[in-house]
Amino acid sequence: MLTKPTNDPRNDFAGRSRDIQRPPIADINALADERTAQGHALTNLGQAVLGLEPPEAAMDQVRRYLDAGGVQGYSPDPGLPEVREAVAAFCRDHKEIDHARADNVMLTCGANQAFVNTMLTLTRPGDEVITFGPGYFDHDFAIRLAGCVNVEVGLPQTGERFRFDIDAVADAVTPRTRVVVLVSPGNPTGAIIDDASLERLTDLCAQRGLWLVSDETYDLLTFPGAHHRSPASLPQAQAQAQDHVVVIGSFSKVFGLAGWRIGYLLGPAWLVEEAIKAQDSVVVCAPVPAQLAALGALGQVDDFARHARTVLLQRRNALLEILDHLPWVTPTVPAGATFTLARLHQDLVDDVALCRDLVIRAGVVTVPGSAFGPRGAGWVRFSFGNLPVDQLQEAGERLRQFDPYASS
Ligand SMILES: Cc1ncc(COP(=O)(O)O)c(C=O)c1O
Repeated sequence: MLTKPTNDPRNDFAGRSRDIQRPPIADINALADERTAQGHALTNLGQAVLGLEPPEAAMDQVRRYLDAGGVQGYSPDPGLPEVREAVAAFCRDHKEIDHARADNVMLTCGANQAFVNTMLTLTRPGDEVITFGPGYFDHDFAIRLAGCVNVEVGLPQTGERFRFDIDAVADAVTPRTRVVVLVSPGNPTGAIIDDASLERLTDLCAQRGLWLVSDETYDLLTFPGAHHRSPASLPQAQAQAQDHVVVIGSFSKVFGLAGWRIGYLLGPAWLVEEAIKAQDSVVVCAPVPAQLAALGALGQVDDFARHARTVLLQRRNALLEILDHLPWVTPTVPAGATFTLARLHQDLVDDVALCRDLVIRAGVVTVPGSAFGPRGAGWVRFSFGNLPVDQLQEAGERLRQFDPYASS
């Protein structure tokens, strides 16, 4: 007879992953896959991707690389020099970060790896990292994997929008605080920080000797009336940016290159050198074909971003129109990015159960707000970036027929 081991390794490991929730989108996608395999039709308003094909110039660059043949080796750890320079030029021309140079840039496997590299390089275990909540769950994972404490500051809501409360950040600073993380446009809120708050936050970080890590994954995806500004572009930051601002960027959303896993970090040149230690131990370098795809995409950035914004605006408005007429949710109006966070009616307390119900009974995939931290409980994130308007309307029909109070 088999005896059960007393020290089951599944219960007896001390890894930092232990205190981290499973990636929430993986769970909801697993349920969606199960339903699809059973023959049910589903509409995916879950994943925050843009359902657009990447720019042709991106694929042309990759084709040229394949046609050239030869040994397909590593690039230098921080990336190919011409791609680093192209990213620096993009940051100068489109983000007004005048001091950006090739040696300020490291190419990474997406913005996520840029964030992990940054955390591993800037922090010591036990440090506190201030984030805004509800916020992007992968930042929480990375902060914890670095052995740090995520100190979440709320995003108060005014009318249909969220605000960045800089007084609350100042109150949350302790002697252990090392980093403040800003995501603007934010995930899951689509909120954009206003210029006055951005200046206050940048000054606060400079005065208190804190790093400001600015995740600008959705930088070019803004709606009329809103504009994205990087803290690294502020006049006071231009002088001090070498010391305390790190910008994180991505090719996943704006250019439809999520599967290629390509992004970057931009910071002081010495920090980029230092981050090579994290980079080398995980991936050595970002995949060379992906770096080249990014290079090609940057050559078409203006046309492509304009197109992406036009398409996204139509999709955003179509989804808001649908949600506005549902009695059980109240959407907020995102200023940028590819989703809206909608508050559930107060009777509906369990957003996780509701999102499961939405998959099973309405055939619509969404993400429960509590995936984005405790402040997201009672909310649901609906992504509109991935689907054309007619498919959003089809999902709207099913949402209208869905009764959240009926039991499944
Ligand atoms: C704020 C934010 N940062 C980073 C990422 C991941 O970007 P990438 O695909 O470049 O790793 C996402 C994806 O949803 C995001 O919302």
